[in-house]
Parts: sequence; structure tokens; C-alpha cells
Amino acid sequence: MTKINTTLTKNPKNLPPSDKLGFGQYFTDHMFVAKYREGQGWYDAEILPYSPLALDPAASVFHYGQALFEGMKAFRQDSGEIVFFRPEFNYDRLCEGAARLCLEAPPKELFMEGLKKLVEADERWIPNGPNTSLYIRPTLIGSEGFLGVRPSHETIFFIILSPVGSYYAEGAKPVRIWAEETYLRAAPGGLGAVKAGANYASSLKAALAARQKGYAQVLWLDVEHQGIEEVGTMNVFFVMDKEIVTPALNGSILAGGTRGSVIQYLKSKNLPIVERKITITEVIEKIKSGELKEAFGTGTAAVVSPIGVIHYQGKDWDINKGETGPLSTQIFTEITSIQRGTKADPFNWIT
Ligand code: COI
Repeated sequence: MTKINTTLTKNPKNLPPSDKLGFGQYFTDHMFVAKYREGQGWYDAEILPYSPLALDPAASVFHYGQALFEGMKAFRQDSGEIVFFRPEFNYDRLCEGAARLCLEAPPKELFMEGLKKLVEADERWIPNGPNTSLYIRPTLIGSEGFLGVRPSHETIFFIILSPVGSYYAEGAKPVRIWAEETYLRAAPGGLGAVKAGANYASSLKAALAARQKGYAQVLWLDVEHQGIEEVGTMNVFFVMDKEIVTPALNGSILAGGTRGSVIQYLKSKNLPIVERKITITEVIEKIKSGELKEAFGTGTAAVVSPIGVIHYQGKDWDINKGETGPLSTQIFTEITSIQRGTKADPFNWIT
């Protein structure tokens, strides 16, 4: 395997206050970087002090958006042990995304070793307050300086770490959501099913407009402005009288890790989870008839984020009177307890 060199910082930073972490505002002392060049393979793998990257201004990441990332977490359990939540899932998804974006994925041992060594170097940064964790951001970028439109012959893989609390300023409180009928996050055949930076660039304008109207995020619909795809940066679940529905993976929806964990958990409890197409018209009908009991988003960052209101075509529709529902609470508690080690892990999610 490519050797990983380590240079530790001589100027460790002060730790941020663990009750005011927010999301993605603080970065640890170190980062992991590895480089790839066609014909040469992976080289210069190192843990080094957190610092700016030097890149050719013609690098494909700047011009043609060849960028892909993962979101994952590490926790310090009560036993003192440091664990990762489903790192193999993130590695596999990184490989799928790299193939779609014509980037080189790092070998698995390099990904896992880099991750482990980096978290070891920055161990003191793992927060242990309620609902905190160490968020991990593995990233792949096309780094070759060349302006012709073709895949970069060079890739940089890096990992940075950020101690985090709640993703939304609302914390675990239900959020208000705007059903978006103008902008799309993704379309069939596009990049929606992989964690390309471009999907998030495409989401910003609609999210900003929603925020200006008093909504925390948007509900993404498909090209027909009917099929529900995702909510904000998360997958979405609707709890109804007879079934729990999450949109089936249709090629433009990201297969979220937390989405998979929630489905696995619900199945283990014999709850009627169904992956199928669900439209905004059906959701509004089920709110009107009282059949829709709860709705929530799922993602690595927030884990579970209840939806209190959906705005659609000029009207706000309350879900569960705008309160957090029992299933959202149950799933959040179950997953975060397994992460923190206060509950056994029957699913083998912890490494
Ligand atoms: C997640 O919900 O885990 C995400 O992917 C959010 C991230 C883009 C900040």
C-alpha cells in the first residue's frame, strides 16, 4: 500500500465550545491528502497540518466541477472507544460516484488507513456533548490543469474533520419545507444518485429563496413536478396509517446511508416500510384525510429531521400539528444510541 507519512502540527488550535458547535464551522488540526496520476498511481499520501491546498488554476475541479464527497461520522463511546458509523458503506458509495464522475477512487486500504490515522491524530477533537460527533468529509477532486473537456488524469483525495452539533439551527425541532416547482435538484441520467458537489451547487438558489420566505429547506420534486425525490440535503420518509413510504431509488435520488439504516431498522421491527414512487399530490391528499401522521428527512448530518410544515402551491400544510412525531423520535434515539454505544448494535453498523 502507498505509505502514509505523518507531520503533526506544532500549533494545535484551541477546541471550540462543545455546546456551540453548530455544523461545519470548525476544523481540526490535521488533514489527510493523497494524490493520483495516471501511469504513476497513488503517491504522496500524508497526514499534515490543516492548511490550504495548492492547485493549478486550470484544474478540472474549478472549471468542469469534477468533485465528489462523502459525509460520515466518528463517535467517542462511553467506554472511551472511538468508532466509525458504516465506513464501508461510504467507501463503496465513493467508488460508485468516482466511476460516474470519471475520477480515480482511492484503494480501500488507503481510504481506511488514512481515515484511521487522521482520526487518531485529531482524537482530542471528538466532542462528547449530547448530539455531537466528529463529522468526516472525504473528498475527491480532478486536479489536472488542462482546459479540454475530458476526465482529469490526476485526482486528489483528501479528508477533513469537523466537530459538529445539530445540522439545523432549529436542532431536532420540526422544520418548515417549501415544495419546489421551479428548480430541480437532479434529473434522470444526471448526477442525482451520486454525491457530486454539482448537486449541491444546483440546490443553492432554491434553498436560498425558500429561506427568504421562511422555510428551512425545499422538498425536491421530479421533472414532472410531481414525484417526491428528497428534502433539502436528505432522503425523505412519510408515515401513513398503513405504510411508511420513502421514494424508491429512481436514478436521480441519492442512496443515503441513513436512509438505508432507517429501512433496515424499520424492517427489523416488522414495520411496513415501502420504497415506491410518492407524489406531492398524494401527500397533500393524505394530509387532508388525516392519514399522514409524520414526515421526516434522514441524513448523516442531522440523522432524523422531522418536517412540521409543507408549503405547496400557496398553502402551508401542517404535519402532526407541527410537532415531532413518535416514530421520528424513536428512530433518532435508536440510531444515535447505537452510535454512542449506549445500545447494542444488532446491525453491525459500528466499526
Ligand atoms: C447529510 O444530510 O448528511 C448531508 O449530506 C448534508 C451535507 C451535505 C452537509
